[in-house]
Amino acid sequence: MDERGVRGPGAFEAVRWWGRMARSPIGTYGALARRYGDAVRVPFGPNRAFFLLSRPEHAERILVANQDNYVKAFTYRPLRAVLGDGLLTSEGETWRRHRRVVQPVFAQRHVVGFASQMAETAAQAVGRWPDGVALDAAGELRRLTLGIVGRALFGSELEGEAERTGRALEALQRAAVVGTFLPGATAKRGVYQRVPGLGGAMKHLDGMVQRVVKGSSGGELLNLLKESGQISEAELRDEVLTLLLAGHETTAASLAWTFMLLSKYPAARDRLEDEVDKVLGGREPTAEDVERLPWTKAVLSEAMRLYPPAWTIERDALEDDEVAGVRVPAGSTIAVPPYLIHRNAEVWPNPEGFQPERFMGEQAHPRYAYLPFGGGRRICVGAGFAMLEATLVLATIARTHRLDLVPGVAVPVRAEITFRPAGVLPMRVVRR
Ligand code: HEM
Repeated sequence: MDERGVRGPGAFEAVRWWGRMARSPIGTYGALARRYGDAVRVPFGPNRAFFLLSRPEHAERILVANQDNYVKAFTYRPLRAVLGDGLLTSEGETWRRHRRVVQPVFAQRHVVGFASQMAETAAQAVGRWPDGVALDAAGELRRLTLGIVGRALFGSELEGEAERTGRALEALQRAAVVGTFLPGATAKRGVYQRVPGLGGAMKHLDGMVQRVVKGSSGGELLNLLKESGQISEAELRDEVLTLLLAGHETTAASLAWTFMLLSKYPAARDRLEDEVDKVLGGREPTAEDVERLPWTKAVLSEAMRLYPPAWTIERDALEDDEVAGVRVPAGSTIAVPPYLIHRNAEVWPNPEGFQPERFMGEQAHPRYAYLPFGGGRRICVGAGFAMLEATLVLATIARTHRLDLVPGVAVPVRAEITFRPAGVLPMRVVRR
């Protein structure tokens, strides 16, 4: 413990931790928290520090109570190089202007209008699955969620783009972690375009955005962005790419983790199948059904507690602050990782256990103990869309099919920008 009221490695030892961080960020965050507790300070360059804070009070202070003091951290720079001035990576006036244009499409009363497209797209995907065969569930779910975002928001058929987009995202995510820790990490697009393997990935994404923007049917969000008079042509490209990527990869990951967990916990799956059979009685789910599927939603919420696709949220401090007893000097970088907060044993009894019951009825946990969608004004604009989509997709699939992990095949994890199963996730699809 030093005078700042927080523990952590000294400057010399920190070098070793940073080396580990570049190789496995999530494993290293976990190891730091196990070693030093839920407030850790790691020196980072002369007179600068990185704070790893994993209590709900920390998240509340940084994301909500004193949010004006924080901007997206330097660790978002590689992402910014790709996504430019889209909602996820912009700040200040640009962010505010974009959020005002985009937000109404994601209002709950509006999002329910996408429900039939969501369920139909899921039903079509399931209809193509051969019975009794092992598929790459992660890839299938990415194709499905890209298809839903493409159709619902942009009026484009994007399922055919899923495989190359998946590969492009893998390359970008790997580069993002390595790029973060390179000296002089930059947000300049040109630098990343020249990295071998990345140039092709960025070209594919740009091509996809162009096809979407030029698409004749448009789709509601695209028309709104084009017609708002608020968004320049370059910003339109950034926003479409942001919504395409942020809008499908996280939802696909949360569904992949959910199916993995259901395969490991048969009692939870039996209860889910019972609920879906009783409520739907053989038809496709609608938006109105979602409230009548509490166990289905609880399963998803619990999967996102254990495996939050947006596993870390990071900010840079503009001025000195005191964060629940931790003195944070101006210029520090702070991580408030949902992954660690969601497994903090002080707020979550049996933190490693998969117990969807936690999310049934009255919720006992403090508000910022659970933040899969972040918090404050930068909270996920697509949270309602994502929960509706994931519930409808899960119910549609579970109504007719079961996904079983292939025995003996381990599921390695990968956490870069998002936390997802590494590579393919082989699961055997069986008709119920
Ligand atoms: C399970 C699915 C999802 C998860 C776990 C998730 C998580 C998050 C989180 C944690 C943030 C805040 C990041 C930060 O504060 O630094 C965020 C922001 C964002 N998300 Fe999501 N998201 C999901 C689905 C979606 C969907 C479906 C869309 C759009 C269709 C979307 C679009 C965005 C955008 C545009 C932002 C930036 C918002 C802003 O800063 O104004 N997300 N998401």
